[in-house]
Amino acid sequence: MPKAFEPYVLGGKSLAHRIVMAPMTRSRAHGPGQSPTGLMATYYAQRAHGGLIITEGTQPSAAGQGNPDTPGIHSAEQVAGWRKVTEAVHAEGGVIFVQLMHAGRIGHPSVTGKQPVGPSAVAAKGQVYTQEGRKDFVTPLELTEEAIGGTIADFVTAARNAVYAGFDGVELQGANGYLIHQFLAPNSNRRTDRWGGSPQARTRFAVEVAGAVAEAIGPDRVGLRISPASPLNDIAEDDRADVERTYTALVDSLTPFGLAYLHHSEAPGIRDLTTRLRKQWPGTYILNPYTGAEPTGPDQLELADDGTTDLISFGALYLANPDLPARLKAGGPFNTHDRATTYGGDHRGYTDYPALG
Ligand SMILES: Cc1cc2nc3c(=O)[nH]c(=O)nc-3n(C[C@H](O)[C@H](O)[C@H](O)COP(=O)(O)O)c2cc1C
Repeated sequence: MPKAFEPYVLGGKSLAHRIVMAPMTRSRAHGPGQSPTGLMATYYAQRAHGGLIITEGTQPSAAGQGNPDTPGIHSAEQVAGWRKVTEAVHAEGGVIFVQLMHAGRIGHPSVTGKQPVGPSAVAAKGQVYTQEGRKDFVTPLELTEEAIGGTIADFVTAARNAVYAGFDGVELQGANGYLIHQFLAPNSNRRTDRWGGSPQARTRFAVEVAGAVAEAIGPDRVGLRISPASPLNDIAEDDRADVERTYTALVDSLTPFGLAYLHHSEAPGIRDLTTRLRKQWPGTYILNPYTGAEPTGPDQLELADDGTTDLISFGALYLANPDLPARLKAGGPFNTHDRATTYGGDHRGYTDYPALG
């Protein structure tokens, strides 16, 4: 039997297998003030089979929101809504971390009513989805030293809220071109103060957020997601030597914290960097492997056998298959992801994907 179906202990929590639900934005936080709904509790509980679920990107502050109808975790209403989600997942034997995602320059005034912020006043190329349709990204306000401190404090408050809401931990979104990634990448971080310039300085924001959150709620409740060299949301980490220096420096600085895990969303053509970071990281490694046009599927289970990773995360296939671990074990069949119902809407394409049998 593939090792992926063997139990694993993550941050003191027992997992029945090594198959993880990757974070996926679904834009269905239709409760008051972007709070989670009962429908969201059903969706996550359907996917809890003794494994680890990482929730959709969740804003740690109103200013950190990206797309419309994404949930927050900064108000009492939101915490109450999330508590229903964590209770439902725990009742099904699952372990659940909330992904804390500050959108930074990928936010838009028509969603938040505010100018977004970023490491530097450099707009991303491209467009963001808003209630009024697609709009060009805008130039963010450069965060001042004081505002950086306030943003780190927002992450800490959100992490404390997550514990009140019953989460087993938080995943810091350092991948896919959102705020933490914007600090790591040289095209979005043009700062010359202590938060920018050298690869080491560009890691400072990620390290300070992780350190402050770990101190507040305990390192075994904190994971970090990274996506070195991924071009999503107009990140340009094109210089391979710089990417290696940045991410090996990041791992070096994070190591003493003893975090629960590093979650690597792999960009194309960098398996050698994956191998290097995996060797360097002393804790649990979660890999969301690069698989081209097809989503992560049964062929990737072997990555837990050959030692490439400890745990494997599945995105699109988990979205469409609430009982994914059982289907992987049986070798399929798999429901396919209906793209039309991905973001927003109701239960259709959300809680009505059938389970086997
Ligand atoms: C609908 C959808 C929403 C996503 N939202 C997020 C998100 O909120 N945070 C994040 O880190 N990644 C997000 N991702 C990326 C997934 O976590 C994953 O890395 C990606 O789908 C590739 O894995 P897969 O081939 O298994 O689908 C999203 C992916 C999908 C399909």
